[in-house]
Amino acid sequence: ALPARVRIVEVGPRDGLQNEKTMVSTADKIELVDRLTATGLQSIEATSFVSPKWIPQLADAAEVFAGITRKPGVHYPVLVPNEKGYDRAREVGVEEIAVFTAASEAFNQRNINASIDESLARFAPVLARARADGVRVRGYVSTVLGCPYQGEVPLADVVRVARELHGMGCYEISLGDTIGVGTPGKARAMLQAVAAEVPLDALAVHFHDTYGQALANILACLEVGVSVVDSAVSGAGGCPYAKGASGNVASEDVVYMLHGLGIETGVDLARLVETGHWLAGRLGRETGSRAGRALAVS
Ligand code: HMG
Ligand code: MG
Repeated sequence: ALPARVRIVEVGPRDGLQNEKTMVSTADKIELVDRLTATGLQSIEATSFVSPKWIPQLADAAEVFAGITRKPGVHYPVLVPNEKGYDRAREVGVEEIAVFTAASEAFNQRNINASIDESLARFAPVLARARADGVRVRGYVSTVLGCPYQGEVPLADVVRVARELHGMGCYEISLGDTIGVGTPGKARAMLQAVAAEVPLDALAVHFHDTYGQALANILACLEVGVSVVDSAVSGAGGCPYAKGASGNVASEDVVYMLHGLGIETGVDLARLVETGHWLAGRLGRETGSRAGRALAVS
């Protein structure tokens, strides 16, 4: 049976913007998060405290986080790769972080300049400090259905990394099809394999729409019982270290599908669509959301 309610983790301000060549102003980033808050979303990944040399677009993470209006009850996680990122995030009052690694060694080397085990070792002190500080930690596993550098990723590697992150204290593990190569049968099998070792209610799915499979993959995973879905308004995004990866599945499209299935999200679709068009305007292009285009106010 499908879940009655799904929590959407909106990753547009982070995963969406990190891959944009057009520099977005700090004021616009703040406005984006505030507009997303007004749609009723419960989790909004606000920015990323990675090295600005690696992701120049998000070099203003501290200013963005300090500038947003945080609504009580809404979570605003930020990406943190190491203790330095944790320090920067805590200085501006961050209360939830996300650590990230991959099931593929080749991808991790290019994305974070570390092996899987080195990355987990890097997170250990971050997780220990987060626990002491009462900071919630989400964990990402990338390349769960394929890697741009090594191709096939064994399911056993996905399961192992997810289990380790959960064991280290991540309250939720987001399983990322970073390059969007997955299809529904593979997505279902991957989720089932992970769910055999990590409780389903601690899992989320994160699809990119490179091959137009994202909604089908999400539906397959909802049928397995997942109830947390990552997406990005306007279908923004991609990963700069994953060649050919297109945007995240569009939040508007996910909300449209979920509401059509009778699944509650708490999100006001009209406001979300409006925000998607606003963002597309800032980026100088059309929205990447099909529902957004269909529901555009003419
Ligand atoms: P490194 O160069 O190996 O590390 O980077 P380092 O420790 O030698 O640091 C190099 C320089 O960066 C030093 O400065 C550090 O101080 C500085 P310098 O001495 O040269 O002046 N530095 C920092 N500055 C600010 N904040 C920090 C920080 N850390 C170091 N936190 C590192 C290693 C992990 C830092 C780097 O590789 C990095 O930042 N990578 C991030 C790449 C990234 O953000 N990728 C995209 C996100 S992952 C993704 O999109 C996938 C996901 O969406 C899920 C999916 O789709 O599958 C999550
Ligand atoms: Mg992503």
